[in-house]
Amino acid sequence: MSESLVLIETHGRVGVLTLNRPKALNALNNDVVAEIAAAARQFEADPDISVIVLTGNEKAFAAGADIGAMKDWGFSDVYNNDYLGGDWQYLRQIRKPMIAAVAGYALGGGCELAMLCDMIIAAENARFGQPEIKLGIIPGYGGTQRLPRAIGKAKAMDLILTARMINATEADAMGLVSRVVPTEKLMEETMDVAQTIASMSLPSVMMAKESINRAYESSLAEGLMFERRNFHGLFATEDQKEGMSAFVEKRQPDFKHK
Ligand code: CAA
Repeated sequence: MSESLVLIETHGRVGVLTLNRPKALNALNNDVVAEIAAAARQFEADPDISVIVLTGNEKAFAAGADIGAMKDWGFSDVYNNDYLGGDWQYLRQIRKPMIAAVAGYALGGGCELAMLCDMIIAAENARFGQPEIKLGIIPGYGGTQRLPRAIGKAKAMDLILTARMINATEADAMGLVSRVVPTEKLMEETMDVAQTIASMSLPSVMMAKESINRAYESSLAEGLMFERRNFHGLFATEDQKEGMSAFVEKRQPDFKHK
């Protein structure tokens, strides 16, 4: 039996997906993405999971879409099959927070997969880039849209047009990543962050995620209204009563995620 392309673990309320195609630097083909999407669907539906962590290995988070697989495709192959649609796009609909724990290369579709997550925690050895232009194509999994939103137009133009790779320090200075941590501590630090988020009330966490995402997809006025409605809505949850009572009673909250 062939080994899974994605390894699945749970740690308390955190689901961890580890890309497992090390010989190809975790290059993303349709099978890899189908396995990520299938596991993410399970975590999304599981009331005992609050946070999803996506990671690779020390050499590569993912070195991009699988170039060998794409090499001989023509327009009708990619268009008719809606390449980079389907499972690839499902991941952006996930409502629970997703954290990318990135060590080594996050290039092309690998950088785009990390950017699709809600936070990127980078190891000191992480390398980010959108080198598609060297292959005679452009980023196709969100790079031309998410990168300028993350780091601004000037820097995004630089990276996408020159194919330049940046290290974790530069990525941090540009605002692409949330934190940089020692490479050997990547999973420990990421799990600390994930467990902290998982200890919060899940409805609050999901509403915070969807409200922040509105900041990218709507006008300020519309985003502010959306945020306020979500804020109002949380007063209908048991966890709001518990969270505020716990504060007043000087104790830790016992969230039920309802
Ligand atoms: N697709 C398929 N295979 C890949 C791959 C990719 N994106 N990246 C690396 N590999 C494979 C290599 O072919 C090699 O396989 P073999 O051992 O069978 O020859 C193996 O992984 C190890 O790679 P290297 O020998 O090249 O390792 P290196 O340490 O010398 O270099 C690297 C590492 C700089 C990341 C180099 O592998 C590289 O440049 N990879 C391609 C990066 C890239 O162009 N990514 C964008 C892809 S297009 C895309 O992603 C489109 C999109 O927007 C969705």
